[in-house]
Amino acid sequence: MHFSKFANQLSEGAGIISLMEDLGSALGSDQKMVMLGGGNPSHIPEMDSYFREQMLAIASDASQFAAMVGDYDGPQGNAGFIQILAEFFRDLYGWTVGPENIAITNGSQAGFGLVFNTLAGETPDGDYNQILLPLTPEYIGYGDAGFDDRPLFTARKPIIERLDDGYFKYHVDFKQIDIEDHVGAVCVSRPTNPTGNVISDEELGHLAELTRDTGVPLIIDSAYGVPFPNIIFSDATPIWDDHIVLCFSLSKLGLPGVRTGIIIANEEIIQRISNANAIYALAPGSVGPALVRQSIQTGKLIDLCRDIINPYYRRRRDEAIVQIKEQMNDLPVQIHQPEGAIFLWLWFQGLPISVQTLYERLKARKVLVIAGHHFFPGLDEDWQHTHECIRMTYSSDTESVHEGIKIIAEEVRRAFEEA
Ligand SMILES: Cc1ncc(COP(=O)(O)O)c(C=O)c1O
Repeated sequence: MHFSKFANQLSEGAGIISLMEDLGSALGSDQKMVMLGGGNPSHIPEMDSYFREQMLAIASDASQFAAMVGDYDGPQGNAGFIQILAEFFRDLYGWTVGPENIAITNGSQAGFGLVFNTLAGETPDGDYNQILLPLTPEYIGYGDAGFDDRPLFTARKPIIERLDDGYFKYHVDFKQIDIEDHVGAVCVSRPTNPTGNVISDEELGHLAELTRDTGVPLIIDSAYGVPFPNIIFSDATPIWDDHIVLCFSLSKLGLPGVRTGIIIANEEIIQRISNANAIYALAPGSVGPALVRQSIQTGKLIDLCRDIINPYYRRRRDEAIVQIKEQMNDLPVQIHQPEGAIFLWLWFQGLPISVQTLYERLKARKVLVIAGHHFFPGLDEDWQHTHECIRMTYSSDTESVHEGIKIIAEEVRRAFEEA
C-alpha cells in the first residue's frame, strides 16, 4: 500500500487525536475515568429538555420532520436558516450581513480546517502563507489542520500579567506582532480554549486594525462567545466587518452531537466554504439548524444563554476554584483569570517533572487532563512555561471535578516532594 503525504500526516501523533481517543475510550470503558480532559459541555437539564421538546415538536410534524431528515440542504447550508441568522445578527449588532455572508459547516472544527486551508498554505505563485496566532496558548484543535509538510501556524508568546490572589492573565504582546507578507490570516479564540482568557475589546480592536490595514483576514473563534452560547464572564463586545471571519458553534449550547458550525465572512470566503462543503460533504447536516431555528428567530436562545447557560458555568467555575484553593493551598499553583469557556488553566511554576509525566501519572490514577504543551501550535522555541501548565475542564459532574482536583493536588505535591 502506498499512502499519500496526507495519510502520513493522519498517522502522526496529533494532540487532538489523542485527546479525542482518550475521550472516546474513557466514555466507552467500564472503568470510571475522571474526565477533566475533553471539551464536552455539561448536560444542563434545562437545555437538554428544551432541545428535546424542540425535537419532539419537529418529529410530530410530518412535513418538518421529512424536510429535516429527508432533504439535502444546499452546500452553503439551509437557506431559510441562513436568512434567519442574517436578520438575527443585523438586528442584534447592526452588522451589514446578508445570506451571502453566512455558511454552515459540519461542526466549527470542520469549518476551521476549510478556513485555514483557504487562507493559508501554498499560494498559486509558489509562496507559502501561514496563520498567525498572536497569543498562545491557543486551541489544540487548530494544530494539525494543514495539508503540507511545512507548518501552517506561526505563533507568539504572550505577556504574562501577575494578578492578586494567585491569578495571572495573558495579553497579546503587540511588540512581537508583525503582519508580514507571509501571514495569510490571524486567528484568536475568544474566549480562549484552553485558558478561559477573553482578550479585551482594546486588544481585539488593535488586531482588527492591524489586519484591516494589511489586507489580511482576522479569524475570531467564538465557540464559547456571545451571543451564543455566552459562556463568558467579562465584558466583551463582538465585532465583525468585511475582513473578519467570525466562527460560531452550536456545540457548547449542549449540542455537540449535531455537529453544526456557523461562519460569517465576506462573500468570497463564504463562496469557497460553500464549494468545499459541496466537494467534501455535499451539504452540511440539517438537524442542528432545525433544532435552534425557532429559538434564534424568537430571541429565546439569547434568553436561555443568559439565564441558564451563563450562570450555570459561572457557578461551576466558582465551585472548582474553591476546591483548588482548598486542596492546593500548599502548592505553587496559579490560575489563569477564568473569564470564559469551560476550562481552568493551572500553572505549577517550577514543576520538577514535565506536564507530560504529570499527565501520565494522573491517567494511571484515572484522571484525564490535558498537558499544557499541546496548546502552543506554531511556537518554535521550547519555552519552559509550556511544560508547567495543564488544562482541566469543570463541565464534568461535580463529584468528578472534586475528585479530579484532589488527585491532581496529590500528584503535584508528590512531584515537588520527590524533587
Ligand atoms: C475554541 C474551540 N473552537 C472550536 C471548537 C470546535 O467545536 P465544534 O467542532 O464542536 O463546533 C472547539 C471545541 O471544543 C473549541 O474549544
